[in-house]
Amino acid sequence: MTQSSESVVPWWRNAVCYEIYVRSFADADGDGVGDLLGVTSRLDYLEQLNVDALWLTPFYRSPQADHGYDVADYRDVDPLFGTLADFDEMLAGAHERGLKVIVDLVPNHTASAHPWFQEALRAGRGSSARERYLFRDGRGPDGSLPPNNWQSVFGGPAWTRVEDGQWYLHLFDAGQPDLNWDHPEVGEEFESVLRFWLDRGVDGFRVDVAHGLFKASGMPDVEGLGPAGETLDATMTEWDRPYWNQPGVHEVYRGWRTVLDSYPGDRMMIGEAWVGSAEAMAHYVRPDEMHQVFNFHWLSTPFSAPALRRVLDETYAAVGPVGASPTWVLSNHDVVRTVTHYGGGDLGLSRAKAAMLTMLALPGSAYVYQGEELGLPQVDVAPEDRQDPTWLRGGGVGRDGCRVPMPWSGSEPPFGFSPGGPGEVRTWIPQPDWFRDYTVEHETRDPYSTLNFLTFALQQRRELVGGLSTTFEMLERGDDVVAFRRDGVDGARGLVCVVNCGTGDHPVDDLGTPVVLSAALAEGTGQLLPDSAAWFLS
Ligand code: NOJ
Repeated sequence: MTQSSESVVPWWRNAVCYEIYVRSFADADGDGVGDLLGVTSRLDYLEQLNVDALWLTPFYRSPQADHGYDVADYRDVDPLFGTLADFDEMLAGAHERGLKVIVDLVPNHTASAHPWFQEALRAGRGSSARERYLFRDGRGPDGSLPPNNWQSVFGGPAWTRVEDGQWYLHLFDAGQPDLNWDHPEVGEEFESVLRFWLDRGVDGFRVDVAHGLFKASGMPDVEGLGPAGETLDATMTEWDRPYWNQPGVHEVYRGWRTVLDSYPGDRMMIGEAWVGSAEAMAHYVRPDEMHQVFNFHWLSTPFSAPALRRVLDETYAAVGPVGASPTWVLSNHDVVRTVTHYGGGDLGLSRAKAAMLTMLALPGSAYVYQGEELGLPQVDVAPEDRQDPTWLRGGGVGRDGCRVPMPWSGSEPPFGFSPGGPGEVRTWIPQPDWFRDYTVEHETRDPYSTLNFLTFALQQRRELVGGLSTTFEMLERGDDVVAFRRDGVDGARGLVCVVNCGTGDHPVDDLGTPVVLSAALAEGTGQLLPDSAAWFLS
């Protein structure tokens, strides 16, 4: 695949993009933390997996309060992850293999170590340096109460008080002060950051907290919450909050689109916009805004045919009218791994494979999170090994369990993640012994492994996708079964995908030639087993 400004169908419309959580992918320098040269060393693996693009989580200079989502310098690589030269080498290696590279952009907040925030602290109240962030005086006679009742997504108040008594807003960790997007310098800075990475040759951006940049005017209290964030009215949802999905965000993305379009090749951006409905999501992908937005609606639904049908209906109803292509995602570094979400064990794995196969049959692009190809379940990380600020701030189960360093080879930690033998390197989150059954090495040898299944499915997808229509038709095959057909174009055969979410076997002998199966068909009857999916050519 080559980069071309003339391509009829931009690459991202049908791409399978592999998310690399850089800290946990591969460690080349032996400090127990993944790095860019580690990514480079595994590019052959990614090429052989048959993915089309890579999304790298933040590797910029950062104190790592939120593992890189707290950026102190948007134009440099943190020494923990390597150097700019390592980045260039990785990018060149990816491009040589036909892999596109998307980097993460974090515009909602900086790190507290960012020079702008340090200047704001030094310059004091009323200074212009403070205007780049959201500093306010507190409430109460002595200003000792936070300015409003907003709560951090990671738990606890969204405000921290500084030495001179003012408070600053951080919707996430205290080490991630929110920027003031009404300040012109903020917008200018991010356009310049975009250009910095576009000039280096990146193919796109994943935009962090794309729905959060603007806050409602006057920063009013969240309705339904008490002064300390206690729930008073449970009917108010997260999506009603005055800091999400404010209209100002769209103007920013229109500006960025102009920047991206001024570069050759199909540069793109995909927004992380957790919004309440598929319709709200579609606003971000109007023709002059983002190219894509993550469609998170599937990953929070149970493995059930009605739930899946609803996700499909709502997604297409939303993106269709704005002409955008849908995206599909079952997992990422913020959520419980799919195998565990679907019940764990063999059942969870069967369902995860079935869902993956279904996702890959749908028109649009798909995002696969590292380790998903191995069928990794969530790890139960010991409390003393937890590092996620969500956990540390008491904001929930924490995300460490889906971020444990990848098992590559061998039978003991570090399982080839870091150089060196067993016991020589301690990975930043310890790997459990049972990872030995999930290593890339182990799964490569097993013809029935999740890795071989997904590699084959991705190869088939790559061969078929150009000959398939970008629409599909639902087939009626009973309440517990979701089935759809994409017609062939230019004389190619069509593809039928069937997923059995019920408890009984489902006959499929009328559907054509099976090409990819998430589980073998029932012996004797050739029917599709519960919790499995299959593709047929017809
Ligand atoms: C979304 C990222 O995926 C997550 O890991 C991070 O903690 C928050 N945004 C804050 O940047």
